[in-house]
Formats: sequence, structure tokens, C-alpha cells
Amino acid sequence: MSTAIEIHPDGAALAEAAARHFIRCASEAIAARGAFHVALSGGSTPKPMFEKLGGPLRGELDWSHVHLWWGDERCVPPDHVESNFRMVRETLLGAIALPDAQVHRIRGEAPDRLAEAARLADELSHRLPVEGGVPVFDLMLQGMGGDGHTASLFPTTGKALVRDRFAVHVIPPAYVKPQVERISVTAPVIEAAREVHALLAGAEKAEMLEKVMHGPLELDVRPMGILRQARGQVRWLLDQAVAAKLPR
Ligand code: 6PG
Repeated sequence: MSTAIEIHPDGAALAEAAARHFIRCASEAIAARGAFHVALSGGSTPKPMFEKLGGPLRGELDWSHVHLWWGDERCVPPDHVESNFRMVRETLLGAIALPDAQVHRIRGEAPDRLAEAARLADELSHRLPVEGGVPVFDLMLQGMGGDGHTASLFPTTGKALVRDRFAVHVIPPAYVKPQVERISVTAPVIEAAREVHALLAGAEKAEMLEKVMHGPLELDVRPMGILRQARGQVRWLLDQAVAAKLPR
């Protein structure tokens, strides 16, 4: 594994850097393997990055070889305000018009969530390159909640410790908002990615980030620590506020 840390002055600079790394990673994957498989993260941090990719930077990439996936999804319909898919449709998909076959949406509306997690795991295993028995993304975007969760692997649920499946159904702890069930990829998939870009911003996450990066590796306490087990390149894309407690 190789690790890089970038600290940017604010959210706009962070979004620009993240978008340009996305384009670089995509161009490298397309040149090497003819396709780019990327798992997008949800939440608010990546939104300005997606807006740049669907806006001023749209022409910087040949989108015809790009496959969009999601690292997790809320168990809501795709047009629901809390849907991670809806956020990407509004910021990026509408501008790049990918064929449906290249948009690998997690079906949050599925009534049988265990079956949907199994379907996602099966699609990952059949559509992605597999190395050592694990599907390999070219890039995974990982956010982190203030509680140290990533994707929808929340503390105390045991889901960050699952290693015998590539996707799981998650009932988040009661404090989590939105309080909806989730579908999430698991640690082995995150660890196997060729590149992982961790996008984090905001002073409220600074203490948790320092513990995740330098504290004890306790994945059911701080699931974002999974990135310390990544086999590929991990690039931490941070704003100054969230990086404030990191050793200089
Ligand atoms: C989700 C995300 C989740 C997100 C973190 C950070 O479905 O919410 O996948 O893991 O990355 O909660 O969210 P913010 O960027 O909104 O702080």
C-alpha cells in the first residue's frame, strides 16, 4: 500500500483536486484495461466534486468507458431525497448520459434487503476484475462520518468486520441520520481497490481522523480504519479544518 495526504485550503480546492484525481485515475484505467470502474460515496462532501465532473471538467474524460457504482446506498427509492443515487443523478449523471448498462445502481427500493446485498455482491463478482477472489475497483471514493464510519459500515454493528461477503445489509445505530437501513460493500472490497480516495472536510471530524490514522486499529469502533489495510494507493484528500489535529 502507498499513502498520500493532500491538505487543501477549502472545500472548493478539495473538490477540484478530487475531480482531477478522478480524471487521472479514470484515464489510466481506460488506457490500461479499456474501462474504469469507480465506486462513488454518498453524503455531502463529494457533491461539489461531482458537480465539477459534470460541469467544467466534463470534457476532460471519455465517459464512454466509465462504469459508475456506489459503495453504499440508503434503502429508499432512487428519487428519494436521501438517495445517494439521486445526488449523483442531479450532479453528474444528467450531464454525461451514461448507458444504463454502465450505471450499477444499488436498488435501495428493494423490499428484500438481504437479497439486494447478495445481488450486489454477485454483480461485483461478475462485472469487476477479480484478484485473490475479491472484486477490484479501479477507484473507490470513501467519506467518513464523525463517528468514524465509512460507506455504511457503522461502529458497533460488526459490519466493518464482515469478510465472508462483498456486500451487507446494515441497520444503523439509533443516532445515525438519516435513520434508514442501508446496503454497503464490505472491507475486503475497499481493501482490494487499486486506489482509494478519502474525501474529508470539516473541523468536526478532525479528532476522529487523527484517531483513525494514528490510533489503535479497532474496526468495529472506527470502521474508516479499513483504509489502513488497503492494498492499493490510499490518497487522503483533506481540507485544512479536518487536518488540524494531524501531526505536522
Ligand atoms: C453515506 C456515505 C457515507 C458518507 C459519510 C460522510 O451514504 O452517507 O456513503 O459513508 O461518506 O457519512 O458524509 P458527509 O460527506 O455528508 O459528511
